[in-house]
Amino acid sequence: MKLSPTSLLLGAASVTQALSGAEWQKQSIYQILTDRFARTDGSTTEQCTITSYCGGTYKGLINHLDYIQGMGFTAVWISPIVKNLEGETPHGTAYHGYWAQDIYSLNENFGTEQDLIDLSAALHARGMYLMVDVVTNHMGYNGCGDCVDYSLLKPFDNSGYYHPFCEINYDDDNSVRTCWEGDNQVSLPDLKTEDSGIRDTFSDWIKDLVAKYSIDGMRIDSVKHVEKDFWPGFLEAAGIYGIGEVFDGNPAIYGDWQKYMQGLMNYPLFYWVQQTFSNPSATMDNLVNGINTMKGQVADTTALGVFIENHDQARFPSLTSDMSLAKNAIAFTLLSDGIPILYQGQEQHYSGGETPNQREALWTSGYNTQSELYQLVATLNQVRNHTLAARNAESGYVKYQAWSVYSDSHSIAMRKGNVIGVFSNLGSGGSGYQINISGGNSGYAGGEQVVQVLGGDCNVITADGAGALNVDVGPDPVVLYKASALEGSGLCGR
Ligand SMILES: *[C@@H]1O[C@H](CO)[C@@H](O)[C@H](O)[C@H]1NC(C)=O
Ligand SMILES: *[C@@H]1O[C@H](CO)[C@@H](O)[C@H](O)[C@H]1NC(C)=O
Repeated sequence: MKLSPTSLLLGAASVTQALSGAEWQKQSIYQILTDRFARTDGSTTEQCTITSYCGGTYKGLINHLDYIQGMGFTAVWISPIVKNLEGETPHGTAYHGYWAQDIYSLNENFGTEQDLIDLSAALHARGMYLMVDVVTNHMGYNGCGDCVDYSLLKPFDNSGYYHPFCEINYDDDNSVRTCWEGDNQVSLPDLKTEDSGIRDTFSDWIKDLVAKYSIDGMRIDSVKHVEKDFWPGFLEAAGIYGIGEVFDGNPAIYGDWQKYMQGLMNYPLFYWVQQTFSNPSATMDNLVNGINTMKGQVADTTALGVFIENHDQARFPSLTSDMSLAKNAIAFTLLSDGIPILYQGQEQHYSGGETPNQREALWTSGYNTQSELYQLVATLNQVRNHTLAARNAESGYVKYQAWSVYSDSHSIAMRKGNVIGVFSNLGSGGSGYQINISGGNSGYAGGEQVVQVLGGDCNVITADGAGALNVDVGPDPVVLYKASALEGSGLCGR
């Protein structure tokens, strides 16, 4: 965190210098469900009723930042922070934070204003960043469709602030923008975000919030449910980077969305990675074509958030318990273009299925830093960080976009600068085989020494005279790094 002379003189609380989009692209994000990550009492045994508040807090989170930083993450995305509807609904309580009732107060279940300020300061003291989840599409109400008592909603306290109730037809964009998310048990009254008064309110709100809590970035909820031209003004008022949820697997729509919001969750890639790596009988074609399609349609794929799990999707291990497949899916996403996002519990191979079952409490894992996937993620974040450092040094941007340098029905090799990742969907029981990455594609000089940073105990292999390399593909991912570029990385003792 750099302090500008002016802010030092002012001694203001909000001394954060906004992290630019380019700087966010160097970060690696760990997604927290605040209620489910760590309790103030540090308990690792407290049971969690999956539909109720389970006791996670900002204080608990502050006490476990070592666990997150130890995996190499540089930013933490927390649940929405504002006050939500209280009490039980047929879908449980608002422990996730997406059912706001008062945007000017905090959800006290997670802690006080001072606790959140302390969290922000604790992250910054470590050189880490705070990303907060924000919702502008809707408020939340415990009850049937349109029988809302608007006086409970602050500051939008009468029906005039909302679109008339209607159920969403997801095939119709206008309906997606104006009808209500939620159902007849929990209503999510849909704000008229096209009104200039509402836009001004949200602009002032986010500006104040960012300043008060020194927020560095936003994950933005339900982006597709708000008209596109709402977003540039909102992002400008916030003055920080946002990664928006456009919950849609169709790559064709992302190019236009990126004109309004540079950072978006890469849902198309999520679907391709899931289909390809969860099923040993799938072939790589879908993934290879998908990556090329995204590059053709989106101006900047490096600005997107890349993930295979989050609080809304069934976890990858709920589709297959195979550890090798999980390793490949995680390695692929962490070394893809874009900003990797790992959802809490992935590193412990949690396996919860559809909502709310993928929202398990993390503390019952005992924050095990020796687990296979925790260790894998730590290494991958180190590989990524070292690759990005090299990119900065060489200022060659485009060549660091990942591209497929080899693929067959069960394996794909992706090159990104000095690193080549080889991923397979053979699964733990699959038989390995050898592939040959040609000299032109590998980028290696004749006789180049290459270190197997993953999947080879740091063995060194040598490219042939033309720079081609034979690589053993097996159930687990392989990561290859040019030996000459590995110095100073801390990887393989170099
Ligand atoms: C990333 O790499 C840079 C440059 O080598 C290093 O200074 C920094 O500590 C690394 N960051 C992490 C989180 O490993
Ligand atoms: C890789 O394949 C090319 C083209 O078939 C061949 O010329 C080369 O010798 C192979 N390299 C290795 C290391 O086997």
